[in-house]
Formats: sequence, structure tokens, C-alpha cells
Amino acid sequence: MRKKIVAGNWKMNTSVSKGEQLAAEIVEKSKDVEGVVLVVAPPFTHLTKVADKLNGSQVALSAQNCAAETSGAYTGEVAASMVADTGAKYCILGHSERREYYGETDETLNKKLAQCFANNLIPVFCVGEKLAERENERHFEVVKTQLYNTVFNLSDEDFGKVVIAYEPVWAIGTGKTATPDQAQEIHAFIRKTLAEKFGAKADDTSILYGGSCNPANAKSLFANADVDGGLIGGASLKSDDFIAIAKSF
Ligand code: 13P
Repeated sequence: MRKKIVAGNWKMNTSVSKGEQLAAEIVEKSKDVEGVVLVVAPPFTHLTKVADKLNGSQVALSAQNCAAETSGAYTGEVAASMVADTGAKYCILGHSERREYYGETDETLNKKLAQCFANNLIPVFCVGEKLAERENERHFEVVKTQLYNTVFNLSDEDFGKVVIAYEPVWAIGTGKTATPDQAQEIHAFIRKTLAEKFGAKADDTSILYGGSCNPANAKSLFANADVDGGLIGGASLKSDDFIAIAKSF
């Protein structure tokens, strides 16, 4: 059975103390949330402090990225082993903002995937097309290539641990959400594509939707058979909204 997951990507927001406060509120308000894995992904600088707030709760910790290398002279980078050391269990990889603004390639992402698995971090691996690609009906092809070049290289065992997040770039931070039909169509396509390589194991893969997901639209998105939860940006910065989304299954 695949897991239902709602993960909050805080991106480059909150001070350390605001992040601690947000985490504490989420822990408090999540006490009656059942059957959903909750994850928060604060900036690197917040991880240890937020880990303290999450301790003993059902909310898991994630980083938003990790280095492609193991350790050494890589100024400004944070190794997957360091992320794991904070108590984090998850690591977002391949977010479109990292691909777009920091030039992350599939080659880099393959190295980062390996680093995550070597350090027992569960990758939340992002894929998704840009607006022009959707308008030219190239979204299936784009997402398929992203998967072929990365996730398809995993062993069966590692594939069994990965979480996929479909995030259409045109829906991120724009207030424009994929319709429930658009989300279901491409999530089913992603699962079918994964099954080409990994067979029935793809039925156990959680595929999250991300892009302007909020308390008003989460229910209709999560109602779809192949939408197993959400990767939430803006709405994850308000504990009430984040919890309302987690209660939308
Ligand atoms: P928004 O929910 O702010 O659109 O961001 C989605 C996202 O990029 C999550 O990773």
C-alpha cells in the first residue's frame, strides 16, 4: 500500500525562531491527523532546531536539497550525511527552482540520489513541465525524459523507497493549479511510465502533486486515484492551512 504524504517545502522562508514556532504549531495541530505522513522541509540552517521541536511527534523532517558529493572542499554545500545527522528522514531533490536557477542537471541529480540512499534519506524527487511545454502538449514527453534520465537508473530496492512529486512549473507560486483531471492524467502517466521499468512496484510509489495546492483545492486533487498527497509551498507556511491540507483526504 502506498503512503499518503503531505510535505511542506518552506523554501527560503522563515527565521530560525519563526521556523521553530511553525514546527511547534504543526506538531500541536497534527495530533488528530491520521493515516497521513506529515513532513516539513525547512532551510538547512533550521534543521537541528526544528528537529528538536518535531521530536516524539508524527511529523518528519526533510531537507530541501543536498550536495552531490560525499564531503570535502565544496564551499557552501551540505552533505547528505550532514542532513541525516540532524535527524532528517527525507530530502527534496530536483525541485524546478534548483533545476532552473542553479543549473541542476540529471547527471547531478543521479549523484544526489545516490547520496541520499547512502545516508538512508528518502528522496522526494520532483519532476514537471514548464508552461510552454504544457501549451505545446509536450508535458508527457518532458516528464518521461526526466524520469528516464534519473529514477530509471535506480535499483529495484532504491526505487522502492523514492517518493515522486509532480510539480508543473506553471502552477508553482502562481495561484494557478492543475485541475484535478490534469493532475490525475499525468500522475497515472507517471505511474505507468515507472511500471515500464519497475513493474508492480510502481503501485507502491507515492506520487505527490505540487503547485498552488491549498486548503480550498486539496480535497479535489487528493480525491484522484493516483494523487497520493501534496508537496506544498506557500500554504505550508501557515500551520492552519498545512493541517487543513493534511486533512483533505
Ligand atoms: P506553491 O505551493 O507555493 O505553489 O509551491 C509549490 C512547490 O514548489 C512545492 O515544492
